[in-house]
Parts: sequence; structure tokens; C-alpha cells
Amino acid sequence: MATGVFRGDPYAQYRALRDRGPIHWAPDAFGGAWLLTTFDGVQAALKDARLSAQRTGGWVMRNALRGSPDRRRLTDMQRLFARAMLFVDKPAHPRLRAAMQHAFRPARIEAMRGQVRDVVDGLIDDIERDLPGTTSFDFIQRFAMPLPSRVMSRFLGLRVTDEGRFLAWSQQLATFLGSVAPTMDETLAAHASLVAMSDEIDRCIREKDLDEDGLIAGLATAEADGLVEGRAELLAQCAMLLFAGHETTRHLLGTAVYWLLGERGRWQALQEPVLLGSAVRELLRWDSPVQYTGRRANCDFQLFGADIRRGDLVLPLIGAANRDPARYDGADHLVLDRKLGMPLSFGTGPHVCIGAGLMMMEAECALGALVRRWPQLALAEADPPWIEAPLYRGLKSLQLRR
Ligand code: HEM
Repeated sequence: MATGVFRGDPYAQYRALRDRGPIHWAPDAFGGAWLLTTFDGVQAALKDARLSAQRTGGWVMRNALRGSPDRRRLTDMQRLFARAMLFVDKPAHPRLRAAMQHAFRPARIEAMRGQVRDVVDGLIDDIERDLPGTTSFDFIQRFAMPLPSRVMSRFLGLRVTDEGRFLAWSQQLATFLGSVAPTMDETLAAHASLVAMSDEIDRCIREKDLDEDGLIAGLATAEADGLVEGRAELLAQCAMLLFAGHETTRHLLGTAVYWLLGERGRWQALQEPVLLGSAVRELLRWDSPVQYTGRRANCDFQLFGADIRRGDLVLPLIGAANRDPARYDGADHLVLDRKLGMPLSFGTGPHVCIGAGLMMMEAECALGALVRRWPQLALAEADPPWIEAPLYRGLKSLQLRR
């Protein structure tokens, strides 16, 4: 039952679990974890100081490398990741968040809108130039994958000519982090990517091969000021940003276009620009790119009547919370002009996604331009393949015809 939640289309299984209650013990998820299934439960857990964000320690134990000579590499990787903002509590968390917040301020995101529009138009131009209108093309490969990668490079201030390398490294890390039980190959590939990515970013900082107003240059200044504690901590934040920003945005773009084209009239309805913001929020709710997150109990306590023990893993199921009928009328219907604020797709509480504003702007630019330039866009296959990593929900490929 439990690991079944993490395979295939999860929503029917979430519903069955939620009908039985807000909390469940899943013995075979990561070697045993508590699953939270309701909007209120997930929201409360993400704000609960008894649940720590420090959760990378279990990797070494649950991994295929247990007992192997390569275990040291996994331990090194775990040490680096353990310093990333996503995986730390007070006092390191607010310190790192403060070091990064400046780059994410709304005025800076808004100032990037023109650049993002140019990247979007460039990708659309390339598809029009390379492929006649009658030929189908893979939207994920040609648009949803390169867009976040290009935007992220600019946001970080990387002057990379070879974006493909950063994309490949981020993907290896996301595969490892997204798997319930990573294989040895996935683990070693993630380790190699982390080392290569860190070396390259370190070189960029040392040789000042960076845009001065990008996030990495800001982190380097924070390091010099003592707000970021050393190069290893800085590199951990960069690695986190690269996997946190690429994969998630790609999945949102892919599933958004798939669901918008899946029913007559939805794509055309988006011609109305005022609908874009609420439509993106609803698409995030409907098929959240991140399906769950994790926390570790730092004391014994009771949660919805369950006895949580210190060290237990708790998984707030974001995908289940976003379809909770106690929060959303007609939760299993996609309603593009739904008026109910932000779903839990970006989390909440101290670790709420710092990139949410950037991602919303990027998605609005992308969908706005696609609808305007290709009003006749259509699915070229009814049943595209979904990715298997259970942490994420997204499409492997999506064939479209314009
Ligand atoms: C559709 C796109 C995205 C989704 C669904 C998403 C989702 C999330 C979620 C659920 C969390 C909270 C995790 C937790 O509490 O354990 C989070 C945190 C985070 N996200 Fe995103 N994210 C997206 C895009 C981005 C982008 C574009 C960036 C960077 C430019 C980014 C950077 C981060 C960072 C750094 C954190 C950690 C924040 C902290 O620990 O204080 N995300 N994201």
C-alpha cells in the first residue's frame, strides 16, 4: 500500500489514504515513514518546529552503497547537501536565507521579465525555424527543459556557453534526490555531478568569470562578509539551487501545457492575459511538480493521535493536500479561474520556496507567449509518458503539433 502511493498516477491512492485519516505509517517508504494526507495537516507540519528539515543522514543508510567501498563518496555528498538551506534549521537557515533573499527580491524578478521573454521567444523561433508546422515536436526537449536552464544560468550570473553541462549535472542530482531507493549507478552519477558542478562554480568565483549582479556573485560577497561560512557552504547552496530550480519548473511547464491542451477551450481561454496568474496557480495545485517533502521529528510527540518518535521520518504529501476536498470545492476538477490563493506546491513556513516568484513570472511569460504565437497548438499524442521519480510529477516527453 505505502510505496504504491509513489508509483504511477498517485491521486486515487492519495484519496483512499485521506479517506482513512490524516496520518499513516508506511513501513516500506524510505525504510518507514509517516505520511500526512490533508491540507491542514501538511500546512501545520511544515510550520512545526518539532519537525526538523535535517533529513539527509538517512541517505547513507538506505542506499545501495551500504557496506561498499564507495560509501565514503556518498558520505561526502551527504555532508555537502546537509549544508544546503533546504536541509538545515535555525540558526543556519535564517542566516542562509538572508544571504540569498536579495537576489530573489520582487523588483529584481520583475526586472528580469524582459530577458525571460527574450529567451521564450528565442526558443519558439528556433522551433519554427527548425520544424515545419506539420511536424510534431517534443515540447519537453525543445522548450520545457532549456527554458529553466537558460533562465537559471542568467539568474545565477553564470556566463556559461555550455549550458548543457549544468543541465546534465542538475538532472543527475534530481534523479538521485527524487528516488525512493537510488541505485548505485544513480548515486555515483549524482556524486560525480556534484563534484564537477562544484569545481566549475568554484573556478567561476576564483576567476571572477561571473555576472556581478547574479546570485553567485552575491553569495561570494556574503562569504567575504562572513554571512556564508566558507566555500563549501556556498557551493552547497549553488548545487541546491540548480536542482531545485530546473527540474521543478520543467515539470510544471510540461504538465501545464498537457492539461491546457487536453480539453477544448482551455488553451483559447488563456488568450485572456488576466487569467494567466490564477491558471498557473491552479495548474500547480492540480499536478504539483513536487509531490512530497520530508521532515525528521526532533522529539517524541503526538500528531493526529499517532505516536511520533524522535528521529521518525514524516512525509507531508503536498500532492494529496492540494486535492483535499475539505480545502477545495471540486478538488478533482481543474478550474482555471479558481480564487483560492496559493496551493501548497511551494511548501509553506520557514522553508517556503524562495524561487516561487521567479517561477511564476517564468511560467506566465512562457504560457502567455505560447498561447499568443500558437493559438492552434494541439497534442500529437493522447497518452504521453510520465517520469517515474516519485518526488516529482512530470512528463518525460510531450509531442505537440502547432
Ligand atoms: C514549479 C517550480 C517549483 C516548485 C514546485 C518548487 C517547490 C518547492 C517546495 C515544495 C519547497 C519547500 C520544500 C520543503 O519545505 O521541504 C521549495 C523550496 C525551495 N525552492 Fe522551490 N520550487 C520551484 C521552483 C524553484 C526555483 C525556480 C528555485 C530557484 C531559483 C527554487 C528554489 C528553492 C529553494 C532554494 C528552496 C529552499 C528554501 C528554504 O529552505 O528556505 N525553487 N521549493
